[in-house]
Amino acid sequence: MGHLPQDARCCRAALAARRACGPDAFVLELAFGQAFAPLAPGRFAMLAAADGSGPLIPRPFSVYDQLAPDRLSFLVQVIGPGTRCLAALAIGSELICTLPLGNGFTVAEPDREVALVAGGVGSAPFLLYARARARAGGRSHFLYGARSADRLYDREAFQTGALRCLDATDDGSLGFRGNVVACLAAELDAGRIGAGALVCACGPEPLLHAFAAFARERGLDAQLSLETYMGCGIGVCNGCPTPTAAAGAFGDWPYAKSCLDGPVFALADVAI
Ligand SMILES: Cc1cc2nc3c(=O)[nH]c(=O)nc-3n(C[C@H](O)[C@H](O)[C@H](O)COP(=O)(O)OP(=O)(O)OC[C@H]3O[C@@H](n4cnc5c(N)ncnc54)[C@H](O)[C@@H]3O)c2cc1C
Ligand code: FES
Repeated sequence: MGHLPQDARCCRAALAARRACGPDAFVLELAFGQAFAPLAPGRFAMLAAADGSGPLIPRPFSVYDQLAPDRLSFLVQVIGPGTRCLAALAIGSELICTLPLGNGFTVAEPDREVALVAGGVGSAPFLLYARARARAGGRSHFLYGARSADRLYDREAFQTGALRCLDATDDGSLGFRGNVVACLAAELDAGRIGAGALVCACGPEPLLHAFAAFARERGLDAQLSLETYMGCGIGVCNGCPTPTAAAGAFGDWPYAKSCLDGPVFALADVAI
């Protein structure tokens, strides 16, 4: 496995399919030589091309969908060398993968209302969440925001009937005009989402900061998945520190490791 961190969860997969789903994003379908138990939403994988055509350090991606026990997909936005390499790999190419990693979101009991709040490729963990709610039941809302409608990647995939889907775009090209936190505020204020709902968020850092401030102000029960930089994904490089809240579950210890203790954290446990 060359230069990559060795771990019992390290394996190879073949690139089975890739489909574009927006101007700068695609869904990768990987075929593994092993079966995975059903994966909780928010768990992730470190991915790298086996031919060394990408960067030395693998990149983390949330599991997007579990198409079969041995077949997983990933929603990827192209932003730099690692994601450009994944975009260019030929079908049939091998990837080196370490998974499943991280903890995942709490899937609420069916009697608990849930609101899922995503920005851009932050939607990735929520397709598995939608699948879990479709099996178990329960009132669920999916609030999906982006700067424009073409950046609401693969939005039709979420319209399975298990979620009440709402779009928010900065330019007003689809759905609510404004960011997804403002959309959440409007829904809460109108009583269409209850103040007691479990609210789960994932997206770019500015969105998560706005969400954290809003959720604290409203006293929401919130969890968020942090897209911290990661070097190894398995707890050895110390490259993913997240400042913790003294009054939270991590106590006085000032940092948690996003890859091991997260990437999903209760809002009360982190200082973001
Ligand atoms: C747990 C987890 C799950 C993730 N899930 C997904 C997913 O499902 N789909 C997806 O597309 N991406 C996801 N990401 C983000 C993804 O890992 C990065 O976009 C990827 O590592 C970028 O690699 P790159 O080599 O293409 O770009 P890089 O060269 O690494 O980055 C390009 C530019 O983006 C900035 N950047 C890169 N990563 C981050 C970051 N984490 N936070 C802030 N700025 C950053 C860099 O500063 C740089 O300017 C996830 C990250 C984590 C930690
Ligand atoms: S990414 Fe290496 S310790 Fe978390």
